Amino acid sequence: MEEMFTIVNHPLVQHKLTLMRDKTCSTAHFRQLLREISLLLAYEVTRDLPLEETEVETPLEKMAAPILSGKKLCFVSILRAGNGLLEGMLDLIPSARVGHIGLYRDPQSLQAVEYYYKVPSDISERQAIVVDPMLATANSLSAAVSRLKKDAPRKIKVVCLLAAPEGVEAFQKAHPDVCVYTAALDRELNDHGYILPGLGDAGDRIFGTQ
Ligand code: PRP
Ligand code: URA
Repeated sequence: MEEMFTIVNHPLVQHKLTLMRDKTCSTAHFRQLLREISLLLAYEVTRDLPLEETEVETPLEKMAAPILSGKKLCFVSILRAGNGLLEGMLDLIPSARVGHIGLYRDPQSLQAVEYYYKVPSDISERQAIVVDPMLATANSLSAAVSRLKKDAPRKIKVVCLLAAPEGVEAFQKAHPDVCVYTAALDRELNDHGYILPGLGDAGDRIFGTQ
């Protein structure tokens, strides 16, 4: 049975995440660490990709060898912080297609506001992996997945870096069919919808905008 919620507790992921949480971590180092972690998260989330056999000729003989089956998968980045996770994933799977969903969280209502949507036209023939570092109230992720479902990808999975228990519960209620992968499950949300202990505003830390 497929796990619906997975914490990727690989020592390298946990080590890099701790460095990223440190408020003195520079923008350049934060971005680099996120890129490295996302590669490791991509490794986990793609564990069940289907394989088929192809014939290959080594310098010594022919053999039947495994190769990924079907259409390439599609990463879907929730702008803008999702792009920080995207880069490492594309390092690992350079041929993946990429979709973008532009959302920002209204600071008062904490509701997600969509401002952009573009995915490959054949998304219904692909698996989609939605990426966003922060799963806080889950308003952004739930809205993104609801929008994506209208285009009916073959399967949807989600990768984030940090999740709050309140957000995981809300997301699973809204989308019980979608598996979530995260590097850590933090304690709680504060009154402004920020994850505690968290790492602050992911977008600001990636792009140095604060
Ligand atoms: C952040 C983050 C998520 C969202 C999570 O984006 O990247 O998309 O907040 O919060 P939620 O689970 O409560 O919806 P933000 O709205 O700050 O936009 P940005 O990525 O453009 O900085
Ligand atoms: N978005 C962020 O970037 N950080 C949080 O802690 C919550 C939402």
